[in-house]
Amino acid sequence: KLPKNVTIKEVGPRDGLQNEKHQVPTEGKVSWIDSLSVTGLSYIEVSSFVHPKWIPQLADAANVLKQIKREQGLTYAALVPNLKGLDGALEAGVDEVSVFMSASEAHNRSNINKSIDATYPVLEEVVREAKLAGKTVRGYVSTVISCPYEGYIAPEKVRVVSERLFEMGIDELSLGETIGVAVPTQVEQLLENLLPHFDAGSLAMHFHDTRGTALANIVKSLEMGITTFDSALGGLGGCPYAKGASGNVATEDLLYMLHEMGIETGVDLDAVLKSAQLIEKTLCKPLRSRQMEILRGE
Ligand code: HMG
Ligand code: MG
Repeated sequence: KLPKNVTIKEVGPRDGLQNEKHQVPTEGKVSWIDSLSVTGLSYIEVSSFVHPKWIPQLADAANVLKQIKREQGLTYAALVPNLKGLDGALEAGVDEVSVFMSASEAHNRSNINKSIDATYPVLEEVVREAKLAGKTVRGYVSTVISCPYEGYIAPEKVRVVSERLFEMGIDELSLGETIGVAVPTQVEQLLENLLPHFDAGSLAMHFHDTRGTALANIVKSLEMGITTFDSALGGLGGCPYAKGASGNVATEDLLYMLHEMGIETGVDLDAVLKSAQLIEKTLCKPLRSRQMEILRGE
């Protein structure tokens, strides 16, 4: 019943760093991404071309993209909220762009300063222009289970936003459990609502792990046919515009679980741990994944 292969999309350099107060210098990001590039990962989200006032940590997105050593066959992606962001990302040589919005009105406004309805035409233009430039496009829907301002979100709302994004032409949709409150029964309910409408192969799950339920939610998603998962090294991450959101599921904990379940990812756990030690040093704080705790002998 479980898939034999799973794709891991590493979002640490973007989602992981966007919430970090300690400003990581560009060369620190570049050497971290270079170390991630040799772990066997096929996808790294390297930064965001958003307003630097909104996410100061990622203001150097263009330099990061330009300075990293590209591994062949690896997709280097970035978030873009609008055409200005797309222009910057294309100019810096991005492989794939991600557009993002929220299923909840309040989080959408808080995160990108627009209503849901006003967001559609902006993203439509971005997807069109990105496609004309020959790029693949990923879409994110945030707050798919719950919103820090509105509470629980009906799966129907998620379906409506997802449908609009697919109509625009996105290639893959990542479902963001932004604040890390979900439990497997809720994930099941969400996917039961979405899977009659969308191909499981075009969906990814993006779990934050605030309450320690992310791996359980991933097992439920696997059982329901999902084969792509976002994660961040060291369990870094969080959205500064979603109160109470903390880190993503840790890549190394996810890899440990999948490999022990006999599911292949193509990613080398030891190489990932080396890369985690590098960013741990740069951030001057212990990373809080189980694998890193074991490595530190805690
Ligand atoms: P706004 O202030 O409404 O933008 O912000 P605007 O269009 O009114 O423009 C205002 C000024 O910003 C103008 O400059 C623009 O040029 C400039 P001025 O004329 O005043 O000098 N501007 C930009 N500058 C640089 N790059 C740009 C850009 N766009 C406009 N791309 C905006 C709207 C969307 C830009 C802002 O709200 C923003 O940057 N938000 C980003 C928030 C963000 O990055 N959040 C975190 C990522 S989402 C997430 O974490 C969730 C996810 O992980 C999934 C999950 O967990 O659920 C993906
Ligand atoms: Mg996130």
